[in-house]
Amino acid sequence: MRALAHVSDLHIGRDEATDEAARQLCAALLAADLDAVLLTGDVTHRGRTAELRRFRELFRPLLATGRVLLVPGNHDRMGDDVRRAFMDGERVAVARLPGLHAIRVDSTAPHNRSLVTGHGRLTAGDLARVERAVAEAAPGALVAVMLHHHVMPLPEEDLAERLASFFGWPFADELRLGAALLARLRGRCDLVLHGHRHVASGAAIGEARRPLRVLNAGSSTALRQVRVLEHEAGEVVRVQWLALPGEHAPALAPAVA
Ligand SMILES: [Fe+2]
Ligand SMILES: [Fe+2]
Repeated sequence: MRALAHVSDLHIGRDEATDEAARQLCAALLAADLDAVLLTGDVTHRGRTAELRRFRELFRPLLATGRVLLVPGNHDRMGDDVRRAFMDGERVAVARLPGLHAIRVDSTAPHNRSLVTGHGRLTAGDLARVERAVAEAAPGALVAVMLHHHVMPLPEEDLAERLASFFGWPFADELRLGAALLARLRGRCDLVLHGHRHVASGAAIGEARRPLRVLNAGSSTALRQVRVLEHEAGEVVRVQWLALPGEHAPALAPAVA
């Protein structure tokens, strides 16, 4: 049995409580002895080099295991633009860990310089690259696509997002090619893992034979909990939440979790 954790939206540097939650999260993930930790962007709060340095300090023991996979989020493109610390210019990259075929997708874009231009970008070329990367998976591996932005419409979470939707600005929208991505992945992929929206959510689409779980981790430091997925021979066998001690926000755990 293998296990992976899905972590997102740490927002290191937002405040002391956030950084402390990240430190506790790192300790909990290490203690859980996972095969992989998939971190789907917004690692830093303002894309500052100092925040990146802080993340590397806080997560050093976990990063040292070589089991952490990362993609950038829109917040990582602000300030000093630290995206290249997570993906070095490529839009799609494959990572293989025991039992896992992960496809890392950079859904950020140069317009992600401010809070109101945080929406993502996915191109037809990205979709073609993802499709090729999925086809490279070894039989029996769990296939996971990880990216920052949401691929399906999700409810607005705050006033700024409600206003953006009201005025028709793209800021709160899902990825324009999100549905097209899911159509290509159905039946050939097991997980789409994302963040960006800070309230966790989950859905399963496609056939019962090989369901495609689309999971939003939410903000792991704000929720103080992360999903852990146990899998075997390419199938998810159990999904549960790993919670930090003390107060934590409800993670919203629907049936699919
Ligand atoms: Fe975020
Ligand atoms: Fe984001």
